[in-house]
Amino acid sequence: MQALGTTLTASDEAISMAAEYLRDGRLVAFPTETVYGLGADARNDDAVARIFAAKDRPSFNPLIVHIADLAGAETLGAFNNLARSLAERFWPGPLSLVLPRLPGSGLSLLVSAGLDTVALRVPAHPLAQDLLARFGGPIAAPSANRAGEVSPTTAAHVADSLGDAPDLILDGGECTVGLESTVIDLCGARPAILRHGAVTREQLEKILGPIEDASVPDADQKPRSPGQIAKHYAPSIPLRIDVSDIRPNEAFVAFGEPPKGDATIVRNLSPSGDVVEAAARLFATLRELDRPEYAGIAVAPVPETGIGRAINDRLRRAAAAHKD
Ligand code: TXA
Ligand code: MG
Repeated sequence: MQALGTTLTASDEAISMAAEYLRDGRLVAFPTETVYGLGADARNDDAVARIFAAKDRPSFNPLIVHIADLAGAETLGAFNNLARSLAERFWPGPLSLVLPRLPGSGLSLLVSAGLDTVALRVPAHPLAQDLLARFGGPIAAPSANRAGEVSPTTAAHVADSLGDAPDLILDGGECTVGLESTVIDLCGARPAILRHGAVTREQLEKILGPIEDASVPDADQKPRSPGQIAKHYAPSIPLRIDVSDIRPNEAFVAFGEPPKGDATIVRNLSPSGDVVEAAARLFATLRELDRPEYAGIAVAPVPETGIGRAINDRLRRAAAAHKD
C-alpha cells in the first residue's frame, strides 16, 4: 500500500482501512462522482462535530448524509412516492433529497444542524459505493474544503485545503462530474431546488412537474437551505463573469471559442463548447488560476442550459463574493 502522508491511493486495503477509521470516529476524505467529501460516521456526534471544526463550517449549515442504497435511505428519511420515484430514477447519482428526518434514524442531530429534515444521497462513484458497503452505515460528508473555498475535485485539492485535518484521504483520481450534487427539497407543499447541479431542473420536472427554484433566495426571503447564506465557491482574487473584453493581467477562462485579443493566460473549459466537460474542469481551473500574480479571473459566457445552469450559479456566487 502506497502511503503519502495521509493520502492513500485507493486499493482494497486502503478502503478497508478507511471503513475502520470511520468506525473509530475519524475523518476520511473520499471521492464521489461530484466532488471529494469529508466523511464521518453520521451517527457519531463527536465525529460529526470534528467535520465542522475541520472545515471551519458554521454549525447552522447541515450536512449531506451518504448511504449505500434506497433501502438504507428509507431508514433515515420519510420517503413519499415522489421521493421514491426520484431515488429510483437518479440514484446512485448526483442528487440529494431533503426529506423529513425519521425519529428513529439514529443520526447525530448535528448533521441536520437543528432542522427536522435530512439531506440524503446515494453516490455513484465506485469507491464511495465500496466504502459505504464496507462501513455499513450512513456517512455524513460535506465537500472536503474549508468553508468558503471552491470544492475539491482531486485528492491534492483536499490536502491543499484541509492539510492534515482528515485522518485519511482516499485518492481516487479526478471527479467526473466536478460540481456538487443537485439539492431538492421535498418537504414543502411544492418541490424546490435548493442547489443546481448535474441532475438538471428539466430532468427533475419530467418526474415532478413544475418545480420552484429556491436556489437564490429573494432579498426579503429566508433562505431555504442554510448553505445559501454562507459565503461560497470563492477564489481569493476577483472574478468577473460573462466577459468579452479581457483587462490587463487578468487570467481568462474561455468556453468554446478562444479569446480574440491577447491574454496573460488562457484556460479553456471546453474547446468544443460542451457544458458537461466544462463542469468537470471548472473548479480545478479556478484553483489553478487563483494566484496573486493575476489581477483577477475573467470568465467567458457559459450557456444556461443543462448543467450550464449549475456552472453559472457557482460562477455568480464566486463573482459576488468580492462585491461585499
Ligand atoms: O455533491 C455533493 O453534494 C457533495 C458530495 C461530497 O456529496 N457534498 C456537498 O456537501 O456538496 P456540502 O455540505 O458542501 O453542501 C451541502 C448543501 C449545503 O448547501 C447545505 O446547506 C444543504 O446541502 N443541506 C444539507 N442538509 C440540508 C437540509 N436538511 N435542508 C436544507 N439544505 C440542506
Ligand atoms: Mg460545500
